[in-house]
Amino acid sequence: MTGHVIDLNDVTVSQWNAILKLAHDIKEAPMVYAGACRGKIMGTLFYEPSTRTQMSFQTAMLRLGGGIIGFDNPSTSSVSKGENLKDTTKIVSGYSDILVMRHPLEGASKAAALTADCPVINAGDGGHLHPTQTLTDLLTLREEKGRLEGLTVGFCGDLKNGRTVHSLLKALSCYPDNKFILVSTDELRVPGYIKDYISASGKTYEEYSSLEEVMPKLDVLYMTRIQQERFASREEYEAQKNVFRLDAKKMKLASKDLIVLHPLPRVDEIAVEVDDDPRALYFKQANYGMYVRMALILSVLNYKLESQPLLRGEIINDATCTNPKCICHTEKYLPHSFRRAGDVIVCEYCDGRQLL
Ligand code: NCD
Repeated sequence: MTGHVIDLNDVTVSQWNAILKLAHDIKEAPMVYAGACRGKIMGTLFYEPSTRTQMSFQTAMLRLGGGIIGFDNPSTSSVSKGENLKDTTKIVSGYSDILVMRHPLEGASKAAALTADCPVINAGDGGHLHPTQTLTDLLTLREEKGRLEGLTVGFCGDLKNGRTVHSLLKALSCYPDNKFILVSTDELRVPGYIKDYISASGKTYEEYSSLEEVMPKLDVLYMTRIQQERFASREEYEAQKNVFRLDAKKMKLASKDLIVLHPLPRVDEIAVEVDDDPRALYFKQANYGMYVRMALILSVLNYKLESQPLLRGEIINDATCTNPKCICHTEKYLPHSFRRAGDVIVCEYCDGRQLL
């Protein structure tokens, strides 16, 4: 089996730690790794806009001595002629040693991995997950806070649609003594399946509607953009977009050891004046993303990162996923596979739930 990276929680914490250690070593001595992927090709299939994720993956492969192919706009590929995900994946994975995919629909990377002839890395699937941003965030925490445990981490903004939030909450739930402070409007709260994951791992979370009152409690503040592209209407987005804004005044309420992270791009949720505060680490964080992606590419190509089988559930009568943003509705050939969890069934692509 090839080592796809679809959901970080499919691989073990000791594997994440090994990737973070390797990323640290690469950062300290990048030239040692300069030819490590010579002769290898990475395909990048970006069905959705990206600056940092795509360019840091591409730079990572180039710095390792490998080559890159792919598209950053599906309208310049045969996708615009109506080619399905299965065929595009089959073809480009045949040209590549590793495939990196971003797609607006939830579960798209898992669907692609079902037919790919090389490992697939999920670079963001709709509002669902973003495991490589999480590796970036973990590396930043490890380097800047010195630990991944015993942290009180605040998340603020679009916690419903923010895939970086979902993946990071799941990952930090796997380390001891972390606590989560979730700041959002009622409409943009963390989805139930992520809350269940936090609780099942024995961690706690508290939900708030104001940033001021939580600032003094935090070791880390993870700000996020309101995900305009995931809203059903312009009006719904407008109602949410300027509710939370971090500025110099709010920074005064926080500890001197706080660090502020943001996966970027920023819109207005962090005032530009905060950039000069030494606790604002979001630009440095983006730079760590390149090193961690170098480590991930090397781990997947050389050390055969083992992941679980892609579909572990079952086809249940004629059940279909009720999440309209799930990939299974547009890619109709996909088996509708579900996991059972008590009296609900969980879609294996997007984690959408429904009563049996
Ligand atoms: C994030 C994403 O695409 O989910 N950005 C990133 O990958 N660095 C966050 C966002 O778009 O708001």
